[in-house]
This record gives sequence, structure tokens and C-alpha cells, in this order.
Amino acid sequence: MTEAAIALTDVSFSWSPEVPVLRSCSLEVPRGEFWMLLGTNGSGKSTLLKLLNGLLVPDAGVIRVVQPMGFVFQNPDHQLVMPTVGADVAFGLGSDRLPPAEVRQRVDEALAAVNLGHMKRRPIYALSGGQKQRVAIAGAIARHCDVVLLDEPTALLDPDSQLDLVAQVQQLVKARGMTALWVTHRLAELDYCDGALLLEGGRVVDRGHPERLKQRLMRQ
Ligand SMILES: Nc1ncnc2c1ncn2[C@@H]1O[C@H](COP(=O)(O)OP(=O)(O)O)[C@@H](O)[C@H]1O
Ligand SMILES: [Mg+2]
Repeated sequence: MTEAAIALTDVSFSWSPEVPVLRSCSLEVPRGEFWMLLGTNGSGKSTLLKLLNGLLVPDAGVIRVVQPMGFVFQNPDHQLVMPTVGADVAFGLGSDRLPPAEVRQRVDEALAAVNLGHMKRRPIYALSGGQKQRVAIAGAIARHCDVVLLDEPTALLDPDSQLDLVAQVQQLVKARGMTALWVTHRLAELDYCDGALLLEGGRVVDRGHPERLKQRLMRQ
């Protein structure tokens, strides 16, 4: 099997003793692949992503994620902090102490990768939801992230932008050898990924080919 870029081994997590969310949960996402995580509302998908990005610490078990790792939120307005597209992507590089020419080059390259090269000076408020999500993804590309976690990034987008975004991430994963884990509840998005995981009762109860999971979920 290909080496995993993301691995959870027997991870348990509770918000409180009455609310166990993950129960000895294990999963792997192979390096260089685009995987999706599905599960009903409240099944623990967002909690799992917060454990993967280190915002939360597990009660038990081992978590391994290849670094650097980027995160894309459901609501881009919770993520984009600078007034313009270019400034926002550059801001994400702030703690890396790069020379200004290198920052410029990385920002340009990352914006080109998400087809926003012509929008560098555009104010964030003038963007559509889908464009804002692409700015957030450009932030991860500029940081040369090997792994990107996306928590329902299409939840607030119109149907056309939803499929544009998922196709864009599919293409970036293939072109740049990144690994992506994408949380969704939209079965149509499964057509774009390499594999899918189903979270239920605090564990991954199914993993494998997206088409098979799609058929399983359509029957439910
Ligand atoms: N900050 C929090 N404090 C306490 N409980 C939480 C918090 N966030 C989520 N939960 C609980 O954890 C469980 C899983 O939630 P979540 O991970 O958001 O699920 P999903 O993303 O699959 O909808 C739910 O029962 C939810 O109420
Ligand atoms: Mg969630």
C-alpha cells in the first residue's frame, strides 16, 4: 500500500464524558490522493478535522499528518483576514520569514494555480464564495502544503461553484502531488475523489471506492 499522508490509529475523543465523539477510530489517506469523509450531521467530521490539524488533542490514540498542512473552513469569511486577495495569501506566509521576492513569487504562483492570477489586487469583499475558497486554497499552496484538509468547503456555494471547486481540488491534487481530505455530505462530489470514508458511531465503518460508498448512501 502507498504510504499514508494522514493516519489516525485508535483515536478516541470526547467533548465531555457524556459526548464521546470518536471511539478508537482509525483511518488512512494515501499520499497524493484526494479522499472524502462522509457522515451524518453530528457524526464527528469537524471534530476529526480539528484533531488532524492539532486544534484538539485526542484522549487516546496516535495521529500522524504529513506537514506542512493547510486547512480550508466551511465559511471563507472566517479565514480570510486581509483586504485584498494577494495580501491575504502573503499574510499566510508571514511566520515563515521569507524574503519579499520569494513571498511575491509564491503568491503569484499559488494564485495562478487556482486560476485567480488576474485577481491579486481585488478586494476580498468583491469575490464570490467560490473565489474566496480558492483564495484559501491558494494560501495552502503558497505555504507549499503537502496536505490540505477541507471542512465542507462547498456548503455555502451555489451548485456551479460547488462542482468547480471540487474539480479544482482534484486537479491540484493530481498536478502537485498534494493529499486532500474533504468533508462533504453531497454525494455528487464523490465523483471527483479517489476514495471515501464513512464515519458512523465514532468510527470509520466503511472505506473504499467512492462509487460503492455512493451507492450505499443512496440506499439509506
Ligand atoms: N465545541 C464543542 N463543544 C461541545 N460539543 C461539541 C463541540 N463541537 C461539536 N460538539 C459535539 O460533537 C459532536 C460531533 O460534532 P461535529 O464534529 O461538529 O460533527 P459533524 O461535523 O459531523 O456535523 C456533536 O454531538 C456535537 O454536538
Ligand atoms: Mg461539521
